[in-house]
Amino acid sequence: MALTQADPAKLAAARAAVALVEDGMRLGLGTGSTASVMVRVLAERVAAEGLSLRCAATSKATADLAQSLGLAVESLDDIGWLDMTIDGADEVDPHLHLIKGGGAAHLREKVVAAASDRMVVIADPGKVVEVLGAFPLPVEVLEFGFETTRKLIRRALEALELGDHDVLQRLRGSDAVVTDEGNLILDLHLGAIPDPVALARALSGIPGVVEHGLFLGMCDLAIIGREDGSVVEL
Ligand code: 5RP
Repeated sequence: MALTQADPAKLAAARAAVALVEDGMRLGLGTGSTASVMVRVLAERVAAEGLSLRCAATSKATADLAQSLGLAVESLDDIGWLDMTIDGADEVDPHLHLIKGGGAAHLREKVVAAASDRMVVIADPGKVVEVLGAFPLPVEVLEFGFETTRKLIRRALEALELGDHDVLQRLRGSDAVVTDEGNLILDLHLGAIPDPVALARALSGIPGVVEHGLFLGMCDLAIIGREDGSVVEL
């Protein structure tokens, strides 16, 4: 999609985040529609200003897009550490806690964000919430023992008195969604997550859970783009 057709709020957030990029930086590139706009804006700036950057991608899709636009993408291990990662999010709360994984990439996204001095989130106003959880929480799980892991997640939700909620396998049509790491996704339809820290701890304690989509204490800055092209920083 050309930048001229991009959603104005996503474009505004992407432009503001790319303005933070400096020559010589090591950058993490997020995944999703907002991150894709950012990659296009970044590629434009690199071409116009001849910036020299080292980029690591959070998904195969982002790596393919970045490379198709002339950005050099290296493995995270080759780069070693990143100055900044720019990524989208499904929800952002006032503490800059996030839900991510709507694009099934939260495992790599979390690994990349954890290896970054700074995580900058870009989003449109619809992603800003008071309490996380209206967006179904993605949890990447092993195929091995899939139903057992689902049961253990249900038990954990009960133990936290979150009630009886749908824990649904993510499908595309009738096929299971398979992540870049070959795992499956469960979406937890919780409505609200009053204590994200407790839920994150409980999910991380279940052996078949590879990674959940709660990003707590990882985001340093959220740039919220608006339809009129302005941005607000959280
Ligand atoms: C992918 C993600 C995305 O960043 C998140 O789903 C937001 O995507 P979009 O910008 O398309 O709304 O976490 O796993």
